[in-house]
Amino acid sequence: MKSTRNIVSVVMVCFVCFGITGLKAAFGQETQGLEPLPLKEYRIERILSDDARECIDCHARESKGIVADWAGSRHAHANVNCLDCHGGSQADADISKSHLEYDQTLISAIVSPRDCSRCHPAEAAQYDKSKHAHTMEIIWKIDPWLNDGLNNDIERATGCYHCHGSVVKIENGEFDDITWPNVGVGRVNPDGSRGSCSSCHTRHRFSLVEARKPEVCGQCHLGPDHPQVEIYNESKHGAIYHAEGDTWNWDAAPGTWSAGVDYRTPTCSVCHMSGINGLTTTHDVTERLAWETQAPLTIRPNEFKAFPASGDWKKEREKMEKVCLACHSQTWVTGHFTKFDDAVINYNENYYLPLKKQIDELYEKNLLSKEKNLDEKLEIEMYELWHHEGRRARFGAAMMAPDYAWWHGFYELKKRCMDMEAEIEHVLQTGKPVKVFQVKGSGGDTIKPDYLDK
Ligand code: HEC
Ligand code: HEC
Ligand code: HEC
Ligand code: HEC
Ligand code: HEC
Ligand code: HEC
Ligand code: HEC
Ligand code: HEC
Repeated sequence: MKSTRNIVSVVMVCFVCFGITGLKAAFGQETQGLEPLPLKEYRIERILSDDARECIDCHARESKGIVADWAGSRHAHANVNCLDCHGGSQADADISKSHLEYDQTLISAIVSPRDCSRCHPAEAAQYDKSKHAHTMEIIWKIDPWLNDGLNNDIERATGCYHCHGSVVKIENGEFDDITWPNVGVGRVNPDGSRGSCSSCHTRHRFSLVEARKPEVCGQCHLGPDHPQVEIYNESKHGAIYHAEGDTWNWDAAPGTWSAGVDYRTPTCSVCHMSGINGLTTTHDVTERLAWETQAPLTIRPNEFKAFPASGDWKKEREKMEKVCLACHSQTWVTGHFTKFDDAVINYNENYYLPLKKQIDELYEKNLLSKEKNLDEKLEIEMYELWHHEGRRARFGAAMMAPDYAWWHGFYELKKRCMDMEAEIEHVLQTGKPVKVFQVKGSGGDTIKPDYLDK
């Protein structure tokens, strides 16, 4: 049965209270002696089922923050209610048993990309084929920490899986605390879907504005091995964003957010995801890329064995250039990409390949043990060469940050190569194998989680 009711009276009382204190705080002394302005009355009157109304009524008391976030979202305006996302059936693996104590309606605490796909099929389908969604299978294919068991469950849960995503486990309706809560980009959900849309659109605002800003990507894209947000902050684009971004129009409808009209310089979203200059919005971040610059040896995206891209890199480069051409001339754009591509080749040929050759020689002579990666100092050095400064040099050149390209990049590469070559020469002269360490905190599972084969 449907009923029309003034459903969020409790929340509205809060808003009214905030309204009064807010005004006082904003105007302080100046409001003295003036008649207070009549307060606007807010009402949300909607047709909702009794079941859906109960969620809001009770949660407005139990978890005010959640209901307030939702009330301010496009979803609330479009009459998308709690049950539309949290509703479930007996057949679902993720039904919350403990919640039956409060309410007889079946609910699930997890709202997966599959749940969102009911109303956003295009975004969910693009996301589903992205590296973001598939990152758990990718890292289990190529990562030495996992495959050689060199870190343990708690190190993985608080580090890797926080960004990459956990494999959510539920037993008898109860979550396994090590795997939940989690909003990593490649979270593996009990319904079989991959990822978590709230990595970038946090609950319960699910905002476009938030996702368009660089801070949202910077939660994961930072630090010594992928400092994209620091690189952005150093670039002219980032500097201008920080100087005047608060005056830009972040709220334009999808497909209408326009370069030069709504914003003056691009954010991560503009270059990698947003619709611009004839390109449509994409939730697949591999689009528009011509290289795998995070890999040890830079290759093309369709050559990445763990998860080959379907696109042709030349077409993807044209797309990225289209982004730039919304604001720049072709000369400026060609000049930029020529330098970036040359920097990539410089890294491959002058740093990575020569050092790889020398390290391989030690493996062949049994002076370095092949058994596990990263349990010998020279292996750690080789890892940092490509994973830290080698990436920084390439990313800095890709995204206009000279400090990362040189001081944190090529300069550090030169220093690392000297240190390594001195060590390699010493090992070759003495003929004594490199010391193998018992890595502290190792012992993590090396068996690939079985869901990955599905
Ligand atoms: C009578 C009060 C009440 C009603 C009605 C109610 N809830 Fe809850 N709900 C709670 C309380 C209390 C908690 C927090 C339980 C806790 O702290 O573990 C909760 C927790 C939740 C959670 C989080 C569960 C978890 O495991 O993290 C979700 C999601 C949720 N409710 C959704 C809903 C939806 C959707 C409805 C409507 C179908 C609803 N609730 C109706 C009281 C209620
Ligand atoms: C557009 C979908 C959507 C709607 C609408 C929605 N939720 Fe949620 N809710 C989510 C997502 C996503 C999460 C985070 C869990 C996840 O990542 O799967 C969540 C989490 C929660 C949690 C646990 C959060 C915590 O911090 O413990 C509660 C409680 C909850 N929702 C209650 C509600 C209530 C009450 C409403 C209605 C006022 C509501 N939700 C409406 C998608 C939604
Ligand atoms: C029952 C249908 C429904 C479900 C389920 C749903 N949405 Fe929506 N969503 C909508 C509607 C309707 C709009 C408003 C569209 C508009 O304003 O043009 C919207 C808008 C949005 C927007 C744009 C918000 C803005 O600021 O403009 C985002 C982002 C979004 N949804 C994400 C999600 C995510 C993530 C989930 C799953 C956690 C989800 N939605 C689940 C119907 C739904
Ligand atoms: C702060 C968030 C964060 C943490 C913590 C983190 N990663 Fe990552 N990881 C990323 C990001 C972001 C990338 C993408 C790098 C790029 O493309 O520039 C990435 C890339 C990778 C890649 C390369 C994937 C590819 O396509 O080549 C692997 C493998 C990986 N991470 C494994 C791990 C493991 C294992 C751990 C824990 C030991 C870990 N990561 C910890 C965010 C994180
Ligand atoms: C990596 C971050 C990220 C993740 C994860 C993400 N989104 Fe988005 N989303 C964005 C950005 C950025 C935009 C803004 C594009 C623009 O400028 O219009 C956006 C826009 C949207 C919109 C508005 C319509 C449009 O196409 O612009 C919807 C709806 C949406 N996302 C739904 C989802 C759903 C559903 C999921 C999960 C399947 C999801 N998003 C996961 C970053 C993300
Ligand atoms: C919750 C963490 C997280 C957030 C937030 C996040 N990313 Fe990522 N991103 C990752 C991880 C992890 C990878 C590595 C995936 C892999 O290759 O296995 C990645 C990879 C990428 C890649 C490389 C794709 C490729 O083909 O090599 C791009 C580009 C990217 N992200 C852009 C973005 C943008 C733009 C945003 C913000 C709108 C964003 N990401 C938000 C974690 C995140
Ligand atoms: C001015 C446009 C622009 C902006 C702004 C921008 N990027 Fe990039 N990004 C690029 C270009 C160009 C490349 C290299 C593309 C190629 O492979 O040819 C790149 C490469 C990347 C890569 C490496 C992908 C790989 O696997 O090789 C990641 C990850 C990434 N960007 C994330 C981000 C994040 C996160 C932000 C914001 C903090 C951001 N980008 C801001 C243009 C931009
Ligand atoms: C929304 C508009 C916009 C887009 C899109 C855009 N830029 Fe820019 N870019 C600017 C503005 C404005 C400046 C500052 C110009 C100046 O220095 O006077 C700038 C500066 C630059 C600079 C100079 C950096 C420096 O430190 O001297 C380069 C190089 C550049 N952009 C390359 C690109 C490339 C490559 C792309 C596409 C991947 C791109 N831009 C996309 C607006 C944009």
